[in-house]
Amino acid sequence: MQLPFYPRWPFDSLLEPASAWGTLGVWKGAALAEWFESWFDEDYALLYSHRDEEEARVAMERALRVAPELATGPVLDLACGVGRHLEILRQTNPLAFGMDLSRALLGMAPPGLRPWLLRGDMRRLPLKAGTLHGICLWFTPFGYFSDDENRALMMDLGGLLRPRGVLVMDYLNTDLVARTLIPEDTVEWGEVRAQNRRSIEGDRLVKRMVLTHRDTGERRDVIESVRLYPPLELQAMAARAGLRLRRVLGTYSGEAFTEDSPRWIGIFEKAP
Ligand SMILES: C[S@@+](CC[C@H](N)C(=O)[O-])C[C@H]1O[C@@H](n2cnc3c(N)ncnc32)[C@H](O)[C@@H]1O
Repeated sequence: MQLPFYPRWPFDSLLEPASAWGTLGVWKGAALAEWFESWFDEDYALLYSHRDEEEARVAMERALRVAPELATGPVLDLACGVGRHLEILRQTNPLAFGMDLSRALLGMAPPGLRPWLLRGDMRRLPLKAGTLHGICLWFTPFGYFSDDENRALMMDLGGLLRPRGVLVMDYLNTDLVARTLIPEDTVEWGEVRAQNRRSIEGDRLVKRMVLTHRDTGERRDVIESVRLYPPLELQAMAARAGLRLRRVLGTYSGEAFTEDSPRWIGIFEKAP
């Protein structure tokens, strides 16, 4: 069942009736069905802890300048994780809220954010069409699904925005990823060692990780698999959802996109 993560979620007028909500994935034996249902937990939070509040503050402040529509009205930080961008946005926009699938990451969000968090699967967004002033997807939460599901998600995002609403899509620079792929490395954060193997398999970037907790000896295999959409394909997909590209940034601090940019941050607006 999809539910507000914490009770008394204050935006009931934005939600579809509960009967229209989907169901969350169910456990299949020891592992959840899809990689993105099981990977985003405490280990993810530790291994990606360099993706921190300061990075989010720089990115959000820049996004607010390019898309001032984010400053007012209901704005969804979709796949908000621990809420690092949402916390910054809410300092400007008290109607901003977040949604994520990961119980573990939502549980790590600052207590003050709790009334503004939903838990659910973005493939079944429980929100009413045409209600949102803005939607943000920070740090690559797009491309996790099949092509059909990714396209359907983009259509949903377009449908949820009101006319002139904005979408911030923070995505990989797919060309740079392909040119600079590091096939193998090992990183250590705290007690966790991650042995990483990266490859491009068909049109997806696949990262396989073997995690070892050095204190307990526990080992775990995890995987990330993200569809690599070239920018023009992403733009075409967005156009079909009624979204027109306003600007592309190549860094969180707002530099213009070039072929060597670390990010492809598309800021789209919905046709009036
Ligand atoms: C790379 S993280 C980015 C988190 C956050 N935006 C940030 O910048 O810290 C991707 C996020 O997508 C969430 N996610 C993955 N699959 C999801 C789904 N089907 N529905 C909703 N959220 C999902 C994960 O739980 C995780 O928080």
